[in-house]
Amino acid sequence: MRIYILLLGIIVGSCNSNTNNTEQKSSTPKETSKMSSDIDKRVANLLEQMTLEEKIGQMTQITLDVITKGDNQYSSSKPYTLDSALVDKAILTYKVGSILNTPGVPLSKEEWYNTIKVFQDKTAKTPRQIPIIYGIDAIHGVNYTTGATLFPQQIGLAATFNTELVKEIAKISAYETRASSIPWNFSPVLGLGRNPLWPRLWETFGEDVYLGKTMGVAMIEGYQGELGDRYRVASCMKHYLGYSVPLSGKDRTPAWIPERELRQYFLPAFKEAVDAGSLTLMINSGEINGVPVHASKFLLTDILRDELGFDGIAVTDWADINYLHTRHKIAETIKEAIKISINAGVDMSMVPHDFEFIDLLIELVKEGSVPIERIDSAVSRILKVKMQLGLFESPVTDPKDYPDFGSNKFAAVSRKAAIESITLLKNKNQILPLKETTKVLITGPTSNSMRPLNGGWSYNWQGSEADTYAATMNTISEAFLKKGNTIFKQGVSFDKTDDINAAVQAAKQCDVVVLCLGENSYTETPGNINSIIMPDDQIELAKALAKTGKKIIFVLLEGRPIIFNEIEPLADAIFMAYLPGNYGADALVDLVYGVENPSGRLPINYPKHPHAFVNYNHKHSDNIAIPNYYESDYDQQYQFGDGLSYTTFEYNNLTISAQEMNQEGTLEVSVEVTNSGNRTGKESVLLYISDLYASITPEVKALKGYKKIDLDVGESKKVSFTITKEQLSFVNEDMKTIAEAGDFEISIGNLKTKFKLN
Ligand code: BGC
Repeated sequence: MRIYILLLGIIVGSCNSNTNNTEQKSSTPKETSKMSSDIDKRVANLLEQMTLEEKIGQMTQITLDVITKGDNQYSSSKPYTLDSALVDKAILTYKVGSILNTPGVPLSKEEWYNTIKVFQDKTAKTPRQIPIIYGIDAIHGVNYTTGATLFPQQIGLAATFNTELVKEIAKISAYETRASSIPWNFSPVLGLGRNPLWPRLWETFGEDVYLGKTMGVAMIEGYQGELGDRYRVASCMKHYLGYSVPLSGKDRTPAWIPERELRQYFLPAFKEAVDAGSLTLMINSGEINGVPVHASKFLLTDILRDELGFDGIAVTDWADINYLHTRHKIAETIKEAIKISINAGVDMSMVPHDFEFIDLLIELVKEGSVPIERIDSAVSRILKVKMQLGLFESPVTDPKDYPDFGSNKFAAVSRKAAIESITLLKNKNQILPLKETTKVLITGPTSNSMRPLNGGWSYNWQGSEADTYAATMNTISEAFLKKGNTIFKQGVSFDKTDDINAAVQAAKQCDVVVLCLGENSYTETPGNINSIIMPDDQIELAKALAKTGKKIIFVLLEGRPIIFNEIEPLADAIFMAYLPGNYGADALVDLVYGVENPSGRLPINYPKHPHAFVNYNHKHSDNIAIPNYYESDYDQQYQFGDGLSYTTFEYNNLTISAQEMNQEGTLEVSVEVTNSGNRTGKESVLLYISDLYASITPEVKALKGYKKIDLDVGESKKVSFTITKEQLSFVNEDMKTIAEAGDFEISIGNLKTKFKLN
């Protein structure tokens, strides 16, 4: 441990020695503001001593591959060794402030510790002793550390509609990330999954603004807590702004988003996250309306800093400054690209492959093309986050101090999340839950691998090695086989054409077929697709199995809603499982046999047709159907908020505190929800509001509140919501967020009521 001595002569910071306690004492607001002003003083003092080279080093982030031996970058099998000459070059010569990523293979927490300790020991020998800040994509648990707890991906967490659970998951992820000596997590994704084609849809909290922003805040609170202890990490909200809706649906291709929409749909989650104190932000790699976001002073400074008041680190995404020259072609040279992006407001460059950024930025400052004030503000933010994380005092965290890493109690939380996320979309004639005596066939391409359960960012970038690293976890077929009365036949697989006929023959010996469909793991550009329709071999398998006359349950393991309307009528029951993580198969088995009761709800619309994508909060003119004439109706396979239970819930007594509300007032809404079925269950109570008439065409409805409750058989609970102007607002043509006087309708369950805003 290194003690940092203030110039003022005060010794600050020591590491908390309570090893078993994941809780921490929270500071009072007064203590927090004192800590923050102490840190500001330390930052100012340190900055004053730093050379230009040291400052620009701090603004530089390289990938681990740059300083490992061999040139086989991203290989998932290469042995990994640090190259000490390259480590010296990075830390001593170039003075880099940050390193990221895995060496292509996941490391044990001890290996992470030993690796990061090498860097921190090296920085301790530099004049200013500024620790490295190591960053990682721990997006569903610390997914690059072997033995860590992997959770459902974000899209599944959204389907739980359970913010407390999401916060707990983020807290555990932070704990396990810190157990790996890593203090900075590139998560959560705050973009909205409003384009089903986009290969990163599953990294989002779905398509809705309110759900996205509330889940985002829960995750940030879980990651960061009261910062400064060794159990929390800095969150990195990403990818600011408008990354998730490229027009073509392909990753990092152009988006066209009017400013009004940017503000109404895409900005709120970032605004809430800034208010919640997210320490860092990653920038969108794409272009919006012809301007790459990394070059947009309007987005990176005018809106982010001046309007939202964000004071943390803005880091680029992967090589995105260089791409201003090589891909976007707005800069004739890399040097020009650096000048544009740093002047626009970038604080740290995820370079990540070389040191050219440092040399060129030094030149730019010396030439006067980038003002030193811009450098100083960027470096101050970086130093501040390092201090807020306690890195000067504890540059590494010892894995021995994290006894709960990979524990059964953490696994239980992951399993609970999978149970609450998996969404029952169809249950014809109540075929589910199955009796344990039912003879079941498990088949289909997603039935026999850990890859479709975890998706991308699992052990490696594309999740391609999940079967090796999660070998002790259950695939769906393994989880069912443990139940006893099950047989397994591959049917079709992703890699080879298997014998559909064998699956059909096996089905004939069974009562029910569980057909696991969907996608193999991918993320980012490798996940781009030219068609969102389910592949032919999966369709053929479903049709062949249906011909046996057996009951069929579809299980969809997929990162985006793959269109399957041709075979949907063949299914008796359908589960949307998303990417439920390492305990997803166990969770599914519990749901199928009724050990658990489903409670997930779709956080996206599930489209029925490949050229008819419409979000649930669409405009009235999105649905101008003339039955049997034009195909212009709003026709979805399933809708946002859909999700069945094995029990039934009744909604009664929707009441509002007044018929009218003033702009500065509030309205209390309550509803009574009763479990009218015959087993206990959880219900997500969703409150929608419709602005009936407005100067900008209103959405048919939009989610403005949700609460998840538990109900015993026959039990009733009153669920209350408070409405303020904020939930009634939209962005007008002058880019102002306003609530217009007029009539609004509230709907919860099957009940509706109206009120007037004055
Ligand atoms: C992704 C980011 C990620 C970064 C670092 C990029 O390719 O877009 O989401 O955080 O890589 O791994």
